[in-house]
Amino acid sequence: MCGISGYIGEKNNSIKIVFNILKKLEYRGYDSSGIATIFNKKILIKKSIGKLVNLKKIILKHQIGSNISIGHIRWATHGKPSRNNAHPHTDATKNIAIVHNGVIENYIELKKKYCINDEEIVSDTDTEIIVHIIKKNYKNDLFSAVRNVLREVKGSYAFALICKNEPDRIICAVNESPLVIGVGDKENFIASDVSAILKYTKKIVFLKNGDVAEIKKNNIIIRDIENNIKNMQIKTIKDENCSYIRKNKYKHFMLKEIFEQPYVIKNILKDVICLNKNKNYENEFKFFKNIIKNISYIYIIGCGSSYHSGLIAKLLFENFANIRTEVDIASEFRYRNPILNENTLVIVISQSGETADTLAALRFAKNKKCKTFAICNVMNSSLSREADKTIFTKCGQEIGVASTKAFIGQLVILYLLVFELSNKKGIINNHEFKKIIVELLDVPKKIFKILKNTKSIINIAEKIKGKKNFLYLGRNLNYPIALEGALKLKEISYIHAEGYAAGEMKHGPIALVDKSMIVVFIAIKKSKVYKKIISNIEEIKARNGTIVLITNEKNIEIKNKSDYVIYIPKINDYLSPIISIVPLQLLAYYIGVFKKCDIDHPRNLAKSVTVE
Ligand code: AGP
Repeated sequence: MCGISGYIGEKNNSIKIVFNILKKLEYRGYDSSGIATIFNKKILIKKSIGKLVNLKKIILKHQIGSNISIGHIRWATHGKPSRNNAHPHTDATKNIAIVHNGVIENYIELKKKYCINDEEIVSDTDTEIIVHIIKKNYKNDLFSAVRNVLREVKGSYAFALICKNEPDRIICAVNESPLVIGVGDKENFIASDVSAILKYTKKIVFLKNGDVAEIKKNNIIIRDIENNIKNMQIKTIKDENCSYIRKNKYKHFMLKEIFEQPYVIKNILKDVICLNKNKNYENEFKFFKNIIKNISYIYIIGCGSSYHSGLIAKLLFENFANIRTEVDIASEFRYRNPILNENTLVIVISQSGETADTLAALRFAKNKKCKTFAICNVMNSSLSREADKTIFTKCGQEIGVASTKAFIGQLVILYLLVFELSNKKGIINNHEFKKIIVELLDVPKKIFKILKNTKSIINIAEKIKGKKNFLYLGRNLNYPIALEGALKLKEISYIHAEGYAAGEMKHGPIALVDKSMIVVFIAIKKSKVYKKIISNIEEIKARNGTIVLITNEKNIEIKNKSDYVIYIPKINDYLSPIISIVPLQLLAYYIGVFKKCDIDHPRNLAKSVTVE
């Protein structure tokens, strides 16, 4: 996680520019932040704990004119959030300042090897050691000192450094953590992602693993660790929506994004279905249908909500397209020995396209010669650049840390891929395919209906907001929705919640059930597991658990089996996950609001998890 920013150029408001870039990167972490600049031949550091507004107050107090600065927003890995642990870090003589995103795995060994005394160290971070070692290697050339030290550094990093004796350059280095350079006119920028600097320039250099860059106001040189000059490719970024995103009438981005979901579905369907008018997705579907010809099975990889959409897709691919599909959490997949070969299609799913584990899983799959396909929301993200092909969910920027509309977007794309494949394989005919599309087109209306009636959800949220433990139970396609519902509640309200397969509950978790336990069930009337889930509800009722039931409207027969009911419109079972998740998102949201939690910036979380 963590975000890095930097500026060198003609303007002497570099601190403001670097701060503005950090603002765009706040989704990557928000436990502390800091900026280093060179002023009057000295390195000056301004730091603050908490969100960026706190740093803003400090930098406004001291208006410093400088044309070179680096900045950082932190999500703590080594060392708790504190002023000392906030970046930038400096060596003891304050000659060099460093900001870092990633994790240095061998910092303790390096500390011993270079005999860095504890007295020299002011933080608990893995980063600070690196700046001390660079200082030890420094012989009036920061570029070569950094390259020398990097030979010994193990782990993931994007570094940016400045040195008070060399006020005309920023040095950057990259390994397994993203960093881009924005190329301007007599000025250059750095940032952890492209969108953060698009306000300043559309000309972008994507740094690659092993790159060490020297960035001056008029010049950029990239070398490898051995000092060989590397080719530099400047890409011009188009089609990026740089507009400032507002909450409008909504109190939080999360709520706004929940309410945007019907439009997300409509947009995707509009682009896919009106192929002759709008060929937005034509290439991606063609690519998918072409590569799948020689594929013997699919692996779907993701983290968090993206993993949950993959779990639903597995059931759909197997059921409707008759293709063996495995799903895995990215951080597990890459450390197992999965059976992969050139006939495996690895689908990586990620809202941000920057999740470190998902990216590493993609690279792992590519090394094994698998075909790769990404489902991603953020254009120009690392994942989308590295996968063989990417299909974008085009949900618009998702700001709330809890994923909502991006999850729905992923689901809709996955449904379309499954049914395209099913149709291509002749498992469903054209008529059936069209019928499915018509049913999908009806989904936004159904979601609007849920969104129009949030009152009952608000009432339930108020009544149960004080409870300490929640179980979310579902079966088949709604089992991943139970996982997703529980994840939303944990993230937003800090209440302990577990998602479970309803049939598995009697194998252990049922021991937890008493009247203080809230058990949320998803029971879809026409589903083949409906009767089974009714039995599971009875089992909980018999043990005095408090039941919140999500079921279809007019399904009165189980009303008296539950303490609270949330009705959703009638829908065919196979499409039910797309709408059953909506009341669960709202329930988590309103409980979080009643508990006065920081909805869009929950504690300890970041929107994009860029460390392993
Ligand atoms: C979802 O609400 C979470 N914030 C989180 O689990 C997220 O889905 C996960 O970190 C994966 O992110 P990605 O989709 O950007 O890869």
